[in-house]
Amino acid sequence: MEKGFLEEYQEYIRKTGDRKALYKAVAKEYGVQKAIYPGSFIDISPSLVIPEVTYIDNFKGAIRFFKQMDGIQDYIEQHKEYPEACKISFIGQDYTEPLEIGQVDLIISQYAGFVGQETKQYLKPGGILLCNDSHGDATLARFDDDFELIGIVSDNDNIERDNLEEYFKLPKEKPVDFALVKEKMKGLKYSVAAENYLFRKKP
Ligand SMILES: C[S@@+](CC[C@H](N)C(=O)[O-])C[C@H]1O[C@@H](n2cnc3c(N)ncnc32)[C@H](O)[C@@H]1O
Repeated sequence: MEKGFLEEYQEYIRKTGDRKALYKAVAKEYGVQKAIYPGSFIDISPSLVIPEVTYIDNFKGAIRFFKQMDGIQDYIEQHKEYPEACKISFIGQDYTEPLEIGQVDLIISQYAGFVGQETKQYLKPGGILLCNDSHGDATLARFDDDFELIGIVSDNDNIERDNLEEYFKLPKEKPVDFALVKEKMKGLKYSVAAENYLFRKKP
């Protein structure tokens, strides 16, 4: 028998960990109302703390999951932590292809390739990119003139703004090899690193 979306989602967060506290900390700090999550798979936790989220993924498992949108909407309505009605949408396509969406306050990038680079045109000026460096997305944002590093999120979901210049430095001051990061789609082992990084899109 096919699993319902809730069972699948709960199994997913049991395996990967629930990132609701991370999304909540970021949404609260920057007053996020509208976000996109390219490469979301079935991580619908952002909708518990952000009123309008568009999930984008071209994997058939994600497409199948989001076909149960009525159940997902009901579940979020019952568990959301904001007063507005929730708006959830899903686009089952490659996020590097043009997307029919407006500008948003936040882009979420978690273990899904170069999301920040590929979708930054949908981020409003002053908007936030939340990303990790698992696939090198944070490295590319750090050295991208369109973005400014404004904070990190620690393992216990605290946003920190101090000593940001210490991040993205390699031992022995070795230069960052962007070609390698792009080819391998993998972040680098910096001397000081954080679980997640916050970048602001420059106006
Ligand atoms: C490793 S999973 C991470 C899922 C989720 N973000 C998480 O942190 O658990 C990567 C997801 O990104 C999706 N993905 C990768 N590249 C993509 C692309 N170009 N367009 C759409 N989805 C993509 C994959 O289909 C997969 O579901």
